Amino acid sequence: MTPPPLPPDELIDRVTPGVAEATAETNRADFRTSGRQSVQDLEHALAAIDRRLDSYGRILEFGCGCGRIMVWLEPLAARCSLHGTDIDEAAIQWCRKNLPFAEFGVNPHEPPMQYGDAMFDLVYNHSVLTHLDERHQDVWMAELRRITKPGGTVLLTVHGEQVFEDNEIAMAGAGEDPRRWREQLESDGILFVEQDSYTGSAHPDFYHTTFHAPWYVFEHWGRFFSIRAYLPRAALSFQDIVVLERPDDDPPRPRPVAARPAKEAFGGPGPAADGETNLMARVEAELTREIAPRYASRFGRPGELARRVLLRLMRPYILIERDLDRELAGAIADTRRQLRMPPLVKDVLDRHSERMKRLEGDLRVELVRLADRLDRVERRGSNDG
Ligand SMILES: C[S@@+](CC[C@H](N)C(=O)[O-])C[C@H]1O[C@@H](n2cnc3c(N)ncnc32)[C@H](O)[C@@H]1O
Repeated sequence: MTPPPLPPDELIDRVTPGVAEATAETNRADFRTSGRQSVQDLEHALAAIDRRLDSYGRILEFGCGCGRIMVWLEPLAARCSLHGTDIDEAAIQWCRKNLPFAEFGVNPHEPPMQYGDAMFDLVYNHSVLTHLDERHQDVWMAELRRITKPGGTVLLTVHGEQVFEDNEIAMAGAGEDPRRWREQLESDGILFVEQDSYTGSAHPDFYHTTFHAPWYVFEHWGRFFSIRAYLPRAALSFQDIVVLERPDDDPPRPRPVAARPAKEAFGGPGPAADGETNLMARVEAELTREIAPRYASRFGRPGELARRVLLRLMRPYILIERDLDRELAGAIADTRRQLRMPPLVKDVLDRHSERMKRLEGDLRVELVRLADRLDRVERRGSNDG
């Protein structure tokens, strides 16, 4: 197979991370090898939900840049309809000219995009939400939900613990104190750093560096999509991949009570005692209260209750995971700073860190499994009912 075409260096530079010792030549080589690796990463992530790229009819790459990944997808074009979109006009022009097997479009900095509702079976990206603040992310999450078919899949990458830890080590190495960032990431679950190398670059002003804590992804992104898998370091061995599913239908809206009986009907004849009035007011408020979207369930209020209980049960695990992450990262950063580590100590630390990460991964898988079980129970319940 002839190697796919290579974009000009200035386009490659916009999508490859700035590595101090990089040259134009190493960047070009990296563009090729990392693109092919990203396709494998996508296949691995989809395997977690028993799917493959070629099992989807219409596929969109959101933020495709100058086609680092798309250049490798030509073999899919016979079976799938391939689309790419980005805000970068020059990159899209290059894609249009050089990758005729796919369709490309330029999208605005904020939604809506040029696509119709429920148009895609699969939407994926590599490293787009890793550059947006929370407001931009939220509007794009809603937009990705709009253009994805019910039951369709969305794969997004985030800068998770690994990238943040690398950053902490680099900061400590440069004599800076990363604790302020760590604290903010832990308390907010998301950290947007504007003081970065993108200031004054070819990218727009809103484009900087964002980190996510896994618990935030579960809690916040769970409002837009069902979370099917969270795969630490699954994208080019440094970013995390989040596998999302567009729910079948919109969350059930609470149905208004058609004709609510007058209050006296509950209290019987005569004025109700104060306690009873309060109780009735609470029952009524409960019945008309909006179900928070994050707890919305096909099974109505009982489902909502089950989701609340599940989240409550998960919270200690999430907090333990957060504490473990913090302790571990702190211990490793301290040790690395204080010691010029003999290889043996480094080995032990690395092994310990690997083990903790495996445990952390297992914990997440377990949480996703619990949520899946809840979904299945609900589905069974609504089919029976
Ligand atoms: C780090 S680059 C990654 C490019 C490509 N996904 C890859 O992996 O090679 C981030 C890309 O996201 C694009 N981008 C940023 N905000 C966007 C938005 N709101 N809509 C579409 N693309 C966006 C940028 O122009 C850039 O091409």
